[in-house]
Amino acid sequence: MQETEQAVAEAARLLRQARSVVVFSGAGISAESGIPTFRDSGGWWERFPVEQFGTWTGLLALARDRPRELAEYLVTRLRPVAEARPNPSHRAVRDMERFCRVTVVTQNIDGLHTEAGSSRVVEIHGSLLRVVWVVDRTVKAHLSRQELKAIVDKLGELCQTGRPSFRRLLLALQPIFGVGWRGLYRPDVVLFGDAMVEPEWTHALHAVRSCQVIVSVGTSGQVFPAAMLPMEAKRQGAAWIHVDPQEPAGDIWIKGRAGEILPLLVNKAWPA
Ligand code: APR
Repeated sequence: MQETEQAVAEAARLLRQARSVVVFSGAGISAESGIPTFRDSGGWWERFPVEQFGTWTGLLALARDRPRELAEYLVTRLRPVAEARPNPSHRAVRDMERFCRVTVVTQNIDGLHTEAGSSRVVEIHGSLLRVVWVVDRTVKAHLSRQELKAIVDKLGELCQTGRPSFRRLLLALQPIFGVGWRGLYRPDVVLFGDAMVEPEWTHALHAVRSCQVIVSVGTSGQVFPAAMLPMEAKRQGAAWIHVDPQEPAGDIWIKGRAGEILPLLVNKAWPA
C-alpha cells in the first residue's frame, strides 16, 4: 500500500473514533484558492520584508514616507483575498461537521472557512473582512469580498496616477482604516508584535485541550504562540495528523496538497 494511502487509512481510523476534532489551518489551505503563502518560495515574506510589511509601525512609516509602495503592496496582498473562493479542502473541513464536533482554529485572515460553511471557526489572527474600533476591538463593519475588491481597485487606480499622496491613500483606505466617532478603526488582523486576540485565543486553547484528534493543515508551524497548539493537543492525549506537501510533523504526516488530501481523508473516514 502506498505510504500516503497508509497514512490516510490510519488517520481516517483515528478520525472515525473521535468525538471532537480540531482543524488547525495555515496559509497552505488557501493556496489552492489563489492566495500565496508566507514562507514558500515566492511567498509574501520573501517579496515584502516582514519588519516593514508585517507590523503596524512598519506600515504606518511606509504610508508616510513611501505611500506608493504601500499602495502597491496592499493591491498585491488584498486582491487574492478579494477574489478568492473556498476550495475543496475548506469544503471537506465543513463536511466533517456531519460526523463529529469540529472546531476550526485558523491562522488565516481570508474568511474562507466561514464562507465554506464551517460553523465553529476561531480566527486567532483575525480577519481582513472585519473592521474594528481600536479602542475596544468592537466591530465597526463587516466587509464583503466585493467591497474589499472595490478598495483594491481604488488603490490600483491610485498606483496608475503619478505619486499617490498620503492623503489620497488614506481616502482610498477610508472604508477599512481611519478615524471615526469612536476614534481609530482598522482591519481586525493580528500583526507581528500584537497580542493574540481574545476571546479567540482562549477558545482555541480550550478546543485543543478537549479534542481527541488535531489535524494541522497548510502551516509551517514557525509562528508562536499559534504553533504551540498541536503540541498542546498532544499533551492532553490527542493524536496529531499533519497535512502538508513538504513540512513533516505530527504523529501522522500525510504528504500532499490540502485540496487533494482533505476530501480523500473525509471520504475514507466516513464513506458516503
Ligand atoms: N496544501 C497544503 N499545504 C500547503 C500547500 C497546499 N496546497 N501549499 C503550501 N503548503 C504548506 C507549505 O508547505 C507550508 O508548510 O503551507 C505551509 C505554509 O506555511 P507559511 O507560509 O509559514 O504559513 P503559515 O504557517 O500559515 O504562517 C503562520 O505566520 O506570517 C505569519 O500571520 C502569518 O498566519 C501567518 C503565520
